[in-house]
Amino acid sequence: MQDILQQLQAKRDQAAIGGGQRRIDSQHAKGKLTARERLEILLDEGSFEEWDMFVEHRCSDFGMESQTVAGDGVVTGHGTINGRLVFVFCQDFTVFGGSLSEAHAEKICKVMDKALLVGAPVIGINDSGGARIQEGVASLAGYAEVFQRNVLASGVVPQISMIMGPCAGGAVYSPAMTDFIFMVKDSSYMFVTGPDVVKTVTHEEVSAEALGGATTHTTKSGVADLAFENDVEALLELRRFADFLPASNREAPPWRPTDDPAAREESSLDSLVPADPSKPYDMKELIEKVVDDGDFFELQPTYAGNILTGFGRMEGQTVGFVANQPMVLAGCLDIASSIKAARFVRFCDCFNIPIVTFVDVPGFLPGTSQEFGGIIKHGAKLLFAYAEATVPKVTVITRKAYGGAYDVMASKHLRGDVNYAWPTAEIAVMGPKGAVEIIFRGDIGDADKIAARTEEYRQKFANPFVAASRGFIDDVIMPHGTRRRLCRALAMLRDKQLENPWKKHDNLPL
Ligand code: HXC
Repeated sequence: MQDILQQLQAKRDQAAIGGGQRRIDSQHAKGKLTARERLEILLDEGSFEEWDMFVEHRCSDFGMESQTVAGDGVVTGHGTINGRLVFVFCQDFTVFGGSLSEAHAEKICKVMDKALLVGAPVIGINDSGGARIQEGVASLAGYAEVFQRNVLASGVVPQISMIMGPCAGGAVYSPAMTDFIFMVKDSSYMFVTGPDVVKTVTHEEVSAEALGGATTHTTKSGVADLAFENDVEALLELRRFADFLPASNREAPPWRPTDDPAAREESSLDSLVPADPSKPYDMKELIEKVVDDGDFFELQPTYAGNILTGFGRMEGQTVGFVANQPMVLAGCLDIASSIKAARFVRFCDCFNIPIVTFVDVPGFLPGTSQEFGGIIKHGAKLLFAYAEATVPKVTVITRKAYGGAYDVMASKHLRGDVNYAWPTAEIAVMGPKGAVEIIFRGDIGDADKIAARTEEYRQKFANPFVAASRGFIDDVIMPHGTRRRLCRALAMLRDKQLENPWKKHDNLPL
């Protein structure tokens, strides 16, 4: 028996070193950790249950029959993050460059199937040279099996992709269909066609980092949510992030006890909105001052900064925050911000996470680039997402809520459950100046008349009380009491039940 146990241990030790010390050293030299080192940081100590450690590829072409490595380039299984179950697959670049063979894909599919069965998130760590070239179409089939599962799991269990090395060609489409993509600066990249192909076809010279690195995807394309400095920071932040998410669509969002009183007042909020309506202020300060312990996990902070999205907690319960940011483009809605927020709202709605919306929006961004780029269709995404969402929706208008953007931003008319306004709110079809220039066009040459009309319009509409008199605003609240009012509204809504009419699925304007 002792011999048998020793043989098992030897086999395990062999599998644990993947492609061997030389390749592990080369991985380290690139500033990257190995697959097992990554899982050690990501998962609670001692919680990892590895599956399929002894799986090998079945390829016999191009001399592959003599080159088998236990595990076949991906480490899979389940473990816990702060005691909560997650399924993981982590590609091992030291084994055939982490490339995806038929057997490698089967391992990924096995954990995805089980995650769906039991209802727990899937975290995929990508570090791969793509399709295992020696396996040809069997590898492509393997990718498609993973893609199919990404789609079936979408909206059922959270799926998070961590890109920690190459991810190119069709391989990018698995992460692309997951809920969140995190990347590491300077050691990861994602693109459909690489720099060489780009050069051949378009004669553009571009490095891998510039074409598809973490900075590119978190500032230019919006493909990724966050960029981190190194593997350790990325994995530790992923642990923090996972804490906000429910395990599946069958669960309420997780609850974390807090000592932060629900009735905590923030007197500084009374002077957050400047007296001059054209002056910006930092909406993030409001979010940080109302959430439990100031702990706000922002997503896409460097992309479409005119809208803020992220998670925080109120009385311990996860809440999704969406907020116009007056510091960027005056908080206008445009194509990028509409898509960013729509996707976030839909994630929250899939996973029973209440949405708090802070509104200060002067309207949609004008211009040919917006119209030619399809702001009609893309703006509709956000409207659609809010309108279809059945989770608790609580809205606070801090200042401007003009025109169609007023309707879009979780207004009462889109089944907003509780709609508050600060006394500084201005709810109108447009700003006073623009409105007067249209309805009193004949007076434009007369500066005194225009000034009087503008003041009259401001008095009438640049306040929350017209909307409140119609019941579109449930109450005009003191800014310093915002946390207390939000906590109460969310507590009242905790058991909200609302269902949309039966349909196969909707037809969101894509
Ligand atoms: C088999 C691969 C491989 C692959 C890398 N390796 N990619 N083996 N299939 N796709 C092996 C290498 O032979 C090498 O083996 C080891 O992994 C490490 O690779 P290096 O090239 O030494 O590493 P590095 O210099 O860091 O370069 C990494 C790389 C490069 C940029 C990813 O390896 C590369 O260009 N690989 C090919 C990428 C590719 O064209 N893939 C197919 C794309 S099409 P040894 O034994 O020397 O250590 C695709 C379609 C997916 O993926 C479609 C889905 C629908």
